[in-house]
Amino acid sequence: MIDPIPLVDAVVLRELHPDDAGALAEAYARNRAHLAAWEPERDEAFFTTARQATEVEAQLEDAARGGSLPTVLAADDGTIVGRFTLSGIVRGPFRSANLGYWVDAARTGHGLASAAVAAMVGIARDELGLHRIQAATLTHNAGSRRVLERNGFAHIGFAPSYLKIAGRWQDHELFQRILHD
Ligand SMILES: CC(C)(COP(=O)(O)OP(=O)(O)OC[C@H]1O[C@@H](n2cnc3c(N)ncnc32)[C@H](O)[C@@H]1OP(=O)(O)O)[C@@H](O)C(=O)NCCC(=O)NCCS
Repeated sequence: MIDPIPLVDAVVLRELHPDDAGALAEAYARNRAHLAAWEPERDEAFFTTARQATEVEAQLEDAARGGSLPTVLAADDGTIVGRFTLSGIVRGPFRSANLGYWVDAARTGHGLASAAVAAMVGIARDELGLHRIQAATLTHNAGSRRVLERNGFAHIGFAPSYLKIAGRWQDHELFQRILHD
């Protein structure tokens, strides 16, 4: 269990809870336009509490098996204002995970993503014992690239047709942060 980590503006990064479905449905509905270009295509049901409850349950099962670490950014009024997830955690000689994230449209530009990525780097290294984090950005996602570079991620390549985002298989830039010398 990871202790909540204070970031900025009274926002904390904490692990996903089983009872987050309602706040997540609200957050995704509020940020539908903001996230549309950067996330997989969502059907209408995705924005309901019922679907989010199913998603949360599956994500917590995967986390319990050690496959991921889903976290949320929680504001002091209880709303969820971002998500940061380590997924695809692989052990053995790789000890690697993928990092994905978003920040609520009304909260961007305050350094939240930079602080949250720093927190996830610390968790990956000190709590999970990982060696490496990979992140992939759409080629034109200047903000996300800046967040990664601020956190010591190095550009390691270009991946054509890498992820299905906004309904299309799109090219991505790949970044990694090595956690141990
Ligand atoms: C990308 C995103 C996570 C940035 O969140 P944020 O909390 O605003 O980021 P920060 O405030 O920590 O900004 C970090 C740096 O990026 C810069 N930045 C942020 N958005 C930017 C943009 N759209 N274009 C250029 N630079 C940007 C900031 O100016 C800051 O630079 P600085 O350190 O030189 O001042 C947020 O805009 C978002 O959720 N976007 C939609 C989803 C998304 O793209 N997720 C990532 C998918 S890989």
